[in-house]
Amino acid sequence: MSGEISMIGSVILALFLAGYLGQQYLPPPKPKVIGLDLGTTFCSVGVFHPGSGEVEVIADEEGRKSIPSAVSFTNTAVLAGHEAVDLADNNPQNTVYDAKRFIGKIFEPEVLEQESARYPFKVINKNGNAEFLISTNHTFAVSPEFIGSRLLLKMRKMAERHLGVLIQKAVISVPAEFDERQRNYTVKAANLAGLEILRVINEPTAAAMAYGLHKVDVFNVLVVDLGGGTLDVSLLNKQGGMFFTRAMAGNNKLGGQDFSQRLLQYTTERVRQEFGIPLTLKEDIHRLRQAVEAAKLNLTLQPSVTIRVPLHLHNHGSSETPEGATLAPVLFQAVITRELFEELNDDLFQKILAPVKTVLAEGHLEKEDVDEIVLVGGSTRIPRIRRLISEYFGKEPNTSVDPDLAVVTGVAIQAGIMGGSWPLQVSAIEIPNKHLHKTNFS
Ligand SMILES: *[C@@H]1O[C@H](CO)[C@@H](O)[C@H](O)[C@H]1NC(C)=O
Ligand SMILES: *[C@@H]1O[C@H](CO)[C@@H](O)[C@H](O)[C@H]1NC(C)=O
Ligand SMILES: *[C@@H]1O[C@H](CO)[C@@H](O)[C@H](O)[C@H]1NC(C)=O
Ligand SMILES: *[C@@H]1O[C@H](CO)[C@@H](O)[C@H](O)[C@H]1NC(C)=O
Repeated sequence: MSGEISMIGSVILALFLAGYLGQQYLPPPKPKVIGLDLGTTFCSVGVFHPGSGEVEVIADEEGRKSIPSAVSFTNTAVLAGHEAVDLADNNPQNTVYDAKRFIGKIFEPEVLEQESARYPFKVINKNGNAEFLISTNHTFAVSPEFIGSRLLLKMRKMAERHLGVLIQKAVISVPAEFDERQRNYTVKAANLAGLEILRVINEPTAAAMAYGLHKVDVFNVLVVDLGGGTLDVSLLNKQGGMFFTRAMAGNNKLGGQDFSQRLLQYTTERVRQEFGIPLTLKEDIHRLRQAVEAAKLNLTLQPSVTIRVPLHLHNHGSSETPEGATLAPVLFQAVITRELFEELNDDLFQKILAPVKTVLAEGHLEKEDVDEIVLVGGSTRIPRIRRLISEYFGKEPNTSVDPDLAVVTGVAIQAGIMGGSWPLQVSAIEIPNKHLHKTNFS
């Protein structure tokens, strides 16, 4: 009898031991909360791995770490991301992008009409809210939050496929300037994608967290976000582990597209000088634009690049003999140096400092009071822009995180905190700042 009891005791002990050892050697738990960056032009999803303590930005089947923020409607499907962009040329009026510019916002009717004129798709006014008119088999309207939900659903699926678990919870970032209504509609988009939002975090705060600034002793952090079309500068202040936005300013008409445009103007003029024929064929302009865009990216790493573009220049003949018009295939070649690129854009680059000075003035700070500078957005890779900022402040900005992934990296860290897998329970609590307004230079 006592033998049996002691045997049962040993079995129980063995089970406990097995359980304990199992816990030690089992793979760490899978993240259950994802971090989402729903951007105006690109979106990304990331997770915090409690085992390694690292953030992973999740790639799609082809290894791409962000998807374009576009959704396309056909007779048979709703496509999001790269698949939508692939269709955009053939289905422009049913491919919606930039939906973030409309989400949760109330518009004056005239403003919406102007906005609509800028896009190949139709923007309509539904009691002051923007909606997009889609015409496939039948005609219907979709809301900006529905567009957002399709992008978020796509990212949720990417995360589920990669992690092999069901995901129902997320943290999401929004621009610091978003008001309560815009935040609510962003949450609504996530809810439509089957996600519960545990926290909404400001994009500049997320970028600061990507650099671990929530854990170190800093007070004033300046975040410069320069993307394809807009510049946003935010001054953050950290008090007791929490970030507050002290001031915001920006320029909603300054970004990478403008820098490419200057290079396009320059090369177009070179073509005219060299061949004596102006660039008029849509296809030629498209080719040159692509070459110039590639050159701009290369100039970040190389001091000079050579562009080679086959063109079909259209010779219009003279006004008396229009039948004399011919195509004149040529190869346009040009060496573009970084110096030339910087010269062409010098006045635009200088404009970056205006909102920087404004946030310092509004935050009642001297530039020496800024402890860390964080750069976000692809255009902050441009060496001249980095130099401009470091010279102004007399210190180096934080650049070790990919500027396109800084926001999603920070949101994923916050997701890790919310998922309870972060050893330090500090987190970025944010009070929506009703009294703050954003100064815009443009
Ligand atoms: C559009 O028509 C196709 C057949 O032509 C049908 O399969 C499809 O379900 C229709 N789509 C919608 C959204 O009604
Ligand atoms: C946002 O959502 C909260 C919670 O659902 C609600 O109390 C609040 O009134 C909403 N605010 C706006 C401006 O829609
Ligand atoms: C840019 O660099 C990549 C690889 O470094 C190269 O394949 C490409 O041809 C370059 N483009 C231009 C315009 O020089
Ligand atoms: C960047 O941020 C870290 C904090 O994580 C800090 O220690 C470092 O000095 C910062 N500055 C630069 C230029 O990297």
